Amino acid sequence: MKISLRTKLNISFLTVIIICGLVASLVGMRLIVAGIINQAQDNVKNDLNSAREIYQQETERIKDVVRFAALRFFVRDGILANDIKTLREELDEIRKVESLDILTLTDKNGHVIVRSRNASAFGDNQRYDQLISQVLSGNKLSAGTVILKEEELIKEGNDLAQQAYTEVVSTPKSIQKLDAVQTSAMCMKAASAVFDHEGRLIGVLYGGNLINRNSRLVDKVKKTTYQDIKYRGADIGVSTIFQGDTRIATNVLDGNGNRAIGTRMSKEVYEQVVAKGTPWINRAFVVDKWYITAYEPIKDTLGQVVGVLSVGIQEQEFVDMRNRAILIFLGIIFGGMIIAVIVSNMLAKGILRPIKELIFASGQWAKGNLDYRVKTTKGDEVSELGQTFNLMASSLKDRDEKLKEYTDEQIMKSERLATLGQLSAGVAHEINNPLGAILMYTHLALEDLDQKDVLRKNLEKTIAEASRCKYIVKGLFDFAHQTEPKVQDADINGILARTLAVTRDQALFRNITITRNLCSSLPWILVDVGQIQQVFTNIVLNAAHAMRGEGELTVVTKVTPDEKNIEIEFRDTGCGIEQENLEKIFEPFFTTKEVGKGTGLGLAVSYGIIKRHNGTIEVRSKLGSGTSFIIRLPITDTGKED
Ligand SMILES: Nc1ncnc2c1ncn2[C@@H]1O[C@H](COP(=O)(O)OP(=O)(O)OP(=O)(O)O)[C@@H](O)[C@H]1O
Ligand SMILES: [Mg+2]
Repeated sequence: MKISLRTKLNISFLTVIIICGLVASLVGMRLIVAGIINQAQDNVKNDLNSAREIYQQETERIKDVVRFAALRFFVRDGILANDIKTLREELDEIRKVESLDILTLTDKNGHVIVRSRNASAFGDNQRYDQLISQVLSGNKLSAGTVILKEEELIKEGNDLAQQAYTEVVSTPKSIQKLDAVQTSAMCMKAASAVFDHEGRLIGVLYGGNLINRNSRLVDKVKKTTYQDIKYRGADIGVSTIFQGDTRIATNVLDGNGNRAIGTRMSKEVYEQVVAKGTPWINRAFVVDKWYITAYEPIKDTLGQVVGVLSVGIQEQEFVDMRNRAILIFLGIIFGGMIIAVIVSNMLAKGILRPIKELIFASGQWAKGNLDYRVKTTKGDEVSELGQTFNLMASSLKDRDEKLKEYTDEQIMKSERLATLGQLSAGVAHEINNPLGAILMYTHLALEDLDQKDVLRKNLEKTIAEASRCKYIVKGLFDFAHQTEPKVQDADINGILARTLAVTRDQALFRNITITRNLCSSLPWILVDVGQIQQVFTNIVLNAAHAMRGEGELTVVTKVTPDEKNIEIEFRDTGCGIEQENLEKIFEPFFTTKEVGKGTGLGLAVSYGIIKRHNGTIEVRSKLGSGTSFIIRLPITDTGKED
């Protein structure tokens, strides 16, 4: 699948943004959530401190009321005088004024003398009560939270037993027990010793308040710590007092909007706070929603866990805070992504426009419109590339033009030579037969003539001239590709050596230095050895003539870099060839030699021979300093290594 540069850029940008965004959100979210939860837990811890303070204050108040009441004269005097009526009236008065549920007097053995709330119940023994037994055994004063059984409650007042009566129900996360009925009660209670004039213990006064269904304490906690603030229609903070794991005083509401009295705390909290007696600060499921809560055990004077005091803040507020923070975060990431897309698009456009221009320009050049130029404006890398492209286009154009000129020339040259070849072949053919006849008849005539005949000389001249004509005609045939080469596997270096060996003895070569630079691993190729030797002889003789018998002839053989041809170069230090003649030297009868010295057929024949071998012959010359002839012959498959 082809993915465009723009898409790639967009994907890269988006990937970076998404990765950064995700990491930032994860880290940020963790920090925020941890911060919010920590703050909430700190808050709730403080709230629990306030709640404990309020709980203790209430215990202190009851303790003070009982202590001061026990010091009143009428109590001592009433016990001593056995004035039950006064005692009952006075104590009931105090009980009501101080809003106590219970205020009862016993004798020095713990037998009840007067029950201010329930006058009809007396005479029972209270010495087994924790607080009273502590006072009977020497403590002046004792106070704390105790559990009162139903029978005790009935004695203190039937209405108190009713107040304590609670149907216990399980909540989704609480211990799942069969619903039960709770008849005992949790009571804040104080007991004080009563002494006679001599300081002897004559009785015990005890008083207390039932916590069950007594909303005063928990509402005070809620009011002081949470100022009755509401969140989403419910109190933001709540407070509860448990007896065991059961709510007995609370401002947590159940589904019907009633105080959730009788519901159980969650199992986790029960196990930590009631069973182990240690505090709990964490989120907890309270009746029907999550709260961030703090619980601590309420112990009786013997250190037994009898109940739990708790406060809680609705978790929803913090959840909402967290959600808002997450939303803001996501918003920022989303915004960042949109900006990234816009920026990457703009960048892509900026980069792509000049690239598209380059692609368009390349297309134009490919079509042959080399005059097209890339429009470059800014001085960046892409525009530099554009300039280079433009330079390349103009060089291409130059080269193209030169190549065209050169090929035009070559075509013209080979066309001319081909026409000349046809012409020459025609002429040679026409002349060859009459020439043969002339020679034959001349020979016959010569044979008939007497040895001393004067005509004989003329006939011999006729034969010589006619032979010369025959030689020329043969040359024309050679040039016009009329004689087929008889090829054989041959070593070019060997042919060269033989050619040079023949010339070496001639006077013309006496002052010429021949330098050979021959490739030793030249492959053997299929050639007509005689014809190739004829070509080499022609070229070597021409060079000797051009150097007027003095100079240096260098012969080089090698394999072309593409390994398809053998290249033979003859380089002389002769007079060179004039530019205007360079095109003509391969034409038959072109010669600069004096009349009678040269026929001008040497190079024409060589050209014909090389052509027939599917090779090329090329000349390079500089007037006054020398000439090079370069012959290339194809390496045939059957040729073997030297
Ligand atoms: N090496 C060379 N240096 C300078 N000019 C050369 C050289 N080779 C050939 N020529 C020029 O090319 C012409 C044609 O050469 P070519 O071999 O075809 O004929 P020729 O040598 O003049 O006569 P022929 O070879 O028939 O005796 C020569 O007359 C000469 O002017
Ligand atoms: Mg020649």
